[in-house]
Amino acid sequence: MKWNSTLFRRLKFTEAQYRTHLRLRYQEIPMSSDQTWNPQRYAEHAHFVPALGQPLLDLLNVKAGERILDLACGDGVLSKKITDVGGIVVGVDSSAEMMQAARKRGIDARLMDAYDLKFDSEFDAVFCNASLHWMKRDPDAVIAGVRRALKPAGRFAAEMGGHGNVAAITVALFATLQRHGVRDPASASPWYYPTVDEYRGKLERAGFRVEYMELIPRPTPLPTSMKGWVETFAMPLFRPLPESERESALNETVEMLRPVLCDAKGRWTADYVRLRFLAFAR
Ligand code: BEZ
Repeated sequence: MKWNSTLFRRLKFTEAQYRTHLRLRYQEIPMSSDQTWNPQRYAEHAHFVPALGQPLLDLLNVKAGERILDLACGDGVLSKKITDVGGIVVGVDSSAEMMQAARKRGIDARLMDAYDLKFDSEFDAVFCNASLHWMKRDPDAVIAGVRRALKPAGRFAAEMGGHGNVAAITVALFATLQRHGVRDPASASPWYYPTVDEYRGKLERAGFRVEYMELIPRPTPLPTSMKGWVETFAMPLFRPLPESERESALNETVEMLRPVLCDAKGRWTADYVRLRFLAFAR
């Protein structure tokens, strides 16, 4: 589109500012699936993620010699725990950096899109920790790929963010974005936090029998700070803002959360809620 520069001079803002204004006010913001993963940042700000994976490993209950697919294996910390007890693990991740980090731990890790898993009746179990909530675009495609990957009666053991997960953090993010002119922040959210009923229904429709499923509130102390958490996990939400506004929007979010998620000693807690389940292929 050709813009009339005299009009912009009269309105006292630049064409670039006006374009940003239009983009924020009127254009639907696409769901951000462009989260980037940095193994060093992840290890610093989010090492609690694999460290809190033991209950899920217990639910998986791997037996020596079983073939296990670690879906979204990340840097392979939990894949390694599965191999340590005799599982034969294939890890897949859509991040080349994370996949390389897993390979450095000796894991057979492959670059693969979780929406398009390329396995057929190969695994005794599929394991997935803290990742399914990133697969918002088409959760049914992910579940169908998992079902295909399993041998008859194979199992799917997973934990993800469930309904109400990081609710306070999400409200602060959305409120900040709205103050910066983003009309519909929920559409920019990359996260999917289903209820028990919703995810159970999806699993059953895909040919699973759900043996166990529970929503578990798990307030989680952060190893560094809320700023570190937001920088590690939530930057795609700030992408609709001009780059020059992102740092101040990030600081505003953190300050909004301080009275509710930071204690008197400056220690931060994230309001996590997990959805943990074990399902068997029918
Ligand atoms: C989670 O594990 O629940 C989570 C991690 C990062 C962003 C959002 C949720």
